[in-house]
Amino acid sequence: GGQDRGGRGLLGFEPVPPGTADEVIVPRGYTARPFIPWGTPILGSFPAFAPGTAEEGGPAGNTAAEQAEQIGMHHDGMTYFPLHSGRRGNEHGLLVLNHEYTDEYYLHRAQFVDGYKPTSAEGVRKSQNAHGVSVVEIERARSGEWQVKRSPRNRRITATTPMSFSGPAAGHRLLRTAADPAGSTPLGTINNCGNGETPWGTYLTCEENFNGYFRVDPGHGGEDAALQTRYGVGGDRNGWAAHDPRFVVRAGDANEPNRFGWVVEIDPLNPRSAPVKRTALGRLKHEDATVHVSRGGRVVVYMGDDQVNEYVYKFVSAANWRSMRARGTSPLDEGTLYVARFTDDGRGEWVPLVHGQHGLTPENGFADQGDVLVKTRQAADRVGATPMDRPEWTAVDPRSGTVYVTLTNNTGRTIANAANPRTRNQWGHIVRWDEDHGDHTATGFSWDVFLLAGPGDGADGSTIAAEDAFGSPDGLWLDPDSRAWIQTDGTQPGGANNQMLAADPYRTDRNGVPEVRRFLTGARQCEVTGIAMTPDQRTLFVNLQHPGEDGDSSWPGLDGVTTPRSATVVVARDDGGVIGS
Ligand code: FEO
Ligand code: CA
Ligand code: CA
Ligand code: CA
Repeated sequence: GGQDRGGRGLLGFEPVPPGTADEVIVPRGYTARPFIPWGTPILGSFPAFAPGTAEEGGPAGNTAAEQAEQIGMHHDGMTYFPLHSGRRGNEHGLLVLNHEYTDEYYLHRAQFVDGYKPTSAEGVRKSQNAHGVSVVEIERARSGEWQVKRSPRNRRITATTPMSFSGPAAGHRLLRTAADPAGSTPLGTINNCGNGETPWGTYLTCEENFNGYFRVDPGHGGEDAALQTRYGVGGDRNGWAAHDPRFVVRAGDANEPNRFGWVVEIDPLNPRSAPVKRTALGRLKHEDATVHVSRGGRVVVYMGDDQVNEYVYKFVSAANWRSMRARGTSPLDEGTLYVARFTDDGRGEWVPLVHGQHGLTPENGFADQGDVLVKTRQAADRVGATPMDRPEWTAVDPRSGTVYVTLTNNTGRTIANAANPRTRNQWGHIVRWDEDHGDHTATGFSWDVFLLAGPGDGADGSTIAAEDAFGSPDGLWLDPDSRAWIQTDGTQPGGANNQMLAADPYRTDRNGVPEVRRFLTGARQCEVTGIAMTPDQRTLFVNLQHPGEDGDSSWPGLDGVTTPRSATVVVARDDGGVIGS
């Protein structure tokens, strides 16, 4: 837990007030510039962004092929990989970012049209090409502005990019389809939400709400129906099923949805490498994947499953990551997946999801470890994991090893427990824990509530100060100085725009509530998500996703284009100092 160290603390900026304008506001002495908005050319013929039209049947902006050469839509989790060690690495690197989903009306029509879906194979293909991940080489010019390089490292990964499965469920019967009878070569990644990075220099992208892209034809029973129900498969939200039969779930060929919901590893330095879906990390609506190296060199991956009453997980590699890689094994392929039980005495337990243990047996529907991993949610139900208020991002304090998780909200909660202490939890909270003996591979931990969000000063049970009011914490990262950056996605107290705040876990009031300051307010109807910094902490990258989702924004308004566009925001201090300090 934190304590007041006295002195100046970690937060050295003047907080900004809650925002309602259609712009990004940062503290005095800082500058924020929009960068690589949706549609920015990065590949091939570098096709310029073309907005769609307000008229049905008019030009639909860029083609599907052009979209595959441009930055995708709905920026989310993101990592900056420096391309040099030392100072030059602060000015030249690869930015790798997720594109979570699409607002089809802006993708095709340039204005808000409630419920709009593409109506042609070309339109569906454009939507699929606006999903996935972008890898883009960027460099800081003498002026201080960052620019996209025309680089052979630039890459788009989309909903159709060939990939592979690895780990215990690769080739499993539940991953086999008519088009891929070996169950080994899935196509594409979708609904890429949060992210992670490994100590060996790769990027992890997390597949979250994959379920909504499928149409489920009638005729399913038994295991298929149980799986589809537990993960909520169906809805055809983006209209893909009419033009891409892969997104129609048929009796007898019902496994395509099982090929999503994974953590996917991408080698950003090798643009020809096939991304790998790491099945040992389980199949959930993955929010993010925070990798921490334990004292013995085993890697530990913390993960949330973002839906009401879902669970918190961790994966522990079988051995030291360097020795595993030296013998040609991925540390993300062999190890143990655990799910968390939070007990009301402030203790917790990691329960292994291992075939044959804790009722994960054939008589209960788990024939092998592949079954346990494809049906991770059912396995976690069986072992009695604790239902949480929508576990979103995880983060580890580099100083103390304390692990944090945002619990964004759960208005449907009727029975509180100590780790989810509010019924009808509208505003969300943040829980943290210390692994026993500081050992991240431990199976026991001690937890407490870091803060309860809301209007502040006790309103609705919130513990923060009213001047720091926020709701629906989602993105979360502790920087190398242990500053906790909190990003919001949802209704804010007073109807303000979504925002990013910083907290000092080591400077708390007499009730143990950390100091919080609002650092950034976003454009209208955006969420603030995804965060990365250069190693010197002097350039901050933050994403604004879905500005104007209900029609009320033209941010960032670059080049006179009024279609709102998700974009990265590059933040620097005018005096070149460390961000937040
Ligand atoms: Fe994609 Fe749970 O946010
Ligand atoms: Ca999120
Ligand atoms: Ca969210
Ligand atoms: Ca404050």
